[in-house]
Amino acid sequence: MSISMRVLRCMPSVVLRRNACRRSLSSSTSLWHKVDIKNGPGLQHFIANSVSPSTQQEIDTSEVDIPYIDNVSGDGQKVYFDVYGCQMNVNDTEVVWSILQAKGYEKTDEVLLADVILVVTCAIREGAETKVWNQLRNYRGLKKKRNRDKPPLRIGVLGCMAERLKEQLIEKERSVDIVAGPDSYRDLPRLLALSRDRHTAVNVMLSHDETYADVMPVRLDQNSKTAYVTIMRGCDNMCTYCIVPFTRGRERSRPISSIVDEIRYLSQQGIKEVTLLGQNVNSYRDLSEQQHFVAADTNLAKGFKTVYKSKKGGRRFADLLDRVASIDPEMRIRFTSPHPKDFPDEVLEVIRERANVCKHLHLPAQSGCSSVLERMRRGYTREAYIDLVQHIREMVPRVSICSDFICGFCGESEEDFKETITLMRTVVYNWMFIFMYSLREKTTAHRRLKDDVPDEEKRRRIEIMHQTLRMITEQTNKTQLGTRQLILVEGASKRSRQVLAGRNEANIKVNFPAGLLPMSPDSQERRPVEPGDYVVVEVGFLSLLYLILF
Ligand code: SAH
Ligand code: SF4
Ligand code: F3S
Repeated sequence: MSISMRVLRCMPSVVLRRNACRRSLSSSTSLWHKVDIKNGPGLQHFIANSVSPSTQQEIDTSEVDIPYIDNVSGDGQKVYFDVYGCQMNVNDTEVVWSILQAKGYEKTDEVLLADVILVVTCAIREGAETKVWNQLRNYRGLKKKRNRDKPPLRIGVLGCMAERLKEQLIEKERSVDIVAGPDSYRDLPRLLALSRDRHTAVNVMLSHDETYADVMPVRLDQNSKTAYVTIMRGCDNMCTYCIVPFTRGRERSRPISSIVDEIRYLSQQGIKEVTLLGQNVNSYRDLSEQQHFVAADTNLAKGFKTVYKSKKGGRRFADLLDRVASIDPEMRIRFTSPHPKDFPDEVLEVIRERANVCKHLHLPAQSGCSSVLERMRRGYTREAYIDLVQHIREMVPRVSICSDFICGFCGESEEDFKETITLMRTVVYNWMFIFMYSLREKTTAHRRLKDDVPDEEKRRRIEIMHQTLRMITEQTNKTQLGTRQLILVEGASKRSRQVLAGRNEANIKVNFPAGLLPMSPDSQERRPVEPGDYVVVEVGFLSLLYLILF
């Protein structure tokens, strides 16, 4: 189905961000005016195992004082970032870039100009890792072709795969010079300095308290009007299929004051949308603000349970969200992901009351079958999840909900799978991210369960899920006809410069014809709509002809 939008009103200085949703809507221009949205380490020393006998040498820096690494300056060396995985990896790369920039490194978007290639990796599924192995082979080729007049090209593997596969990375892929896990980015200048002398430098130590709270990330895309802000790291949930608790370690929260400072700075820089990131934002706790604690200490409602002991006291996510939302009423706030098992009403109240907090939730279900959910150790039943969705919709009318699902998990029968399909239809999600189960070593599922759904069957099931998704989104698109929506403009659409693209509150991409805006609310002069503007559009029918024309 095609849908068109008619631009009704526009606000010069307000906007939003892009994300993983891939649906798009389209539109045509008419009248503009102002929209009121007011209510709107210490270094962790460790390791350095190493490598090849001839050119490389084993260094253990944990106990020895090595004077020559005092010089950790980048001296203008160029770094190329190749980033995989989730939004948190993007934001981690911005932390890494901040740390390296401060040491005199430069960034290049041209891989052939790089002195150092840093691959920021993901380990969530086998496919994510395969991509990185393939790319490392390409980079090995670049290394060999490197002009001999220049210092050797160095390759660093960072992030979740580095944490999971440290030994293999060094043994199997000999071109790798640096291996750094998600909690050792402060150590990168030193690791890079070590690698300059042809040592393989490794730091994969996980931390209980590293949040990079004092590092102001430097955004990779300086033109973007949207930003990610990591509010916590690690995960204690231990879902049986998931590698994240092993690659990112224990859950810890960044203090509210540091998050608020960063968002204030982003607002001053003209950022119009911020997405708060954490593996389970609902268990956020700023324990440094104990004395102000007001909210109830546990939110576990009937039908929900948790495997770990909830933290006590401190400021919680609802407090953080409220503080962040009050910084700039023209800045849209999103967050991902809340875990269904501890969804407090306080958070829903803030979403409802604050106009600039998007009425949109990513609420990963993973499966619609209670016995599968039990084996996944998700901490809720199908019924409890459905009750929660109903409660959310009562408290926040018109909220849009999206989800993650896994098909083919250990022991998932045809009947179990059908329950997932019926859950998808019952909830009527605005969007879903759907994955085939991928066995991960170390996880409980790897140790205790059997990956017994054949690949072919997983593929059949995922296809049925995609068909269901298409059917549901067609249905939800239809319900939007005639509605007026606030769109944060991102820039030209992929189709044409005459067609602009932006995101609505539900994070769905919307295309609409380029138009003009008043220079100021009272001005007769006009200027083109720009990234960072908010426009209000009315969703209407759009013929295929329109799509062809543009
Ligand atoms: N912390 C987030 C999820 C982060 S991982 C949350 O709980 O919402 C993103 C998604 O990857 C998960 O929601 C899950 O759907 C999927 N995923 C995780 N491990 C997987 C595995 N082993 N195989 C397939 N998909 C997986
Ligand atoms: Fe993985 Fe579960 Fe933690 Fe999400 S909540 S990161 S799925 S262990
Ligand atoms: Fe993110 Fe992938 Fe790590 S999803 S947390 S980069 S395993």
